[in-house]
Amino acid sequence: MKKVLLTAILACGMAFAGEANATAPAADANATKADANATAAAPAKGDAEAGKAKFAACAGCHGQQGEKQALGKSEVIKGWDAAKVVEALKGYKAGTRNVHGMGSTMKGQAAALSDQDMANIAAYLSSLK
Ligand code: HEC
Repeated sequence: MKKVLLTAILACGMAFAGEANATAPAADANATKADANATAAAPAKGDAEAGKAKFAACAGCHGQQGEKQALGKSEVIKGWDAAKVVEALKGYKAGTRNVHGMGSTMKGQAAALSDQDMANIAAYLSSLK
């Protein structure tokens, strides 16, 4: 009788241990899933070096570091927040942005830029302080 009770207690203990082990990997799996989601939500990364090279075509008006008011009209875009640069360039490309009455000039400039080009230029400009 005593032996049976002992076996029952041992079995019980093992069942608990088994449950604890089963819970741990599940929690890990959730953590990995959360990491994957965080990576997917991140915006396209810009390459500042590639952006600097691309910006050579813009330097005639904006200055090599975006430090000039292009044609005496635009804002100084040096140090602009990356998201602000991308938003402006997308607006010009779409023909919907015209802040200083010269949106059509910038539309021609932005027309050939891909989303990656814009992200790269944005990374370059925002890296300048
Ligand atoms: C021919 C001269 C010229 C060139 C070249 C040029 N821009 Fe511009 N840019 C302007 C003018 C003028 C504006 C103001 C447009 C407006 O009225 O909204 C402007 C505006 C901008 C703005 C928004 C600034 C503001 O005041 O809102 C950004 C960002 C910008 N340009 C980026 C670029 C990039 C990147 C390139 C190269 C791919 C480029 N520009 C090439 C003349 C130029």
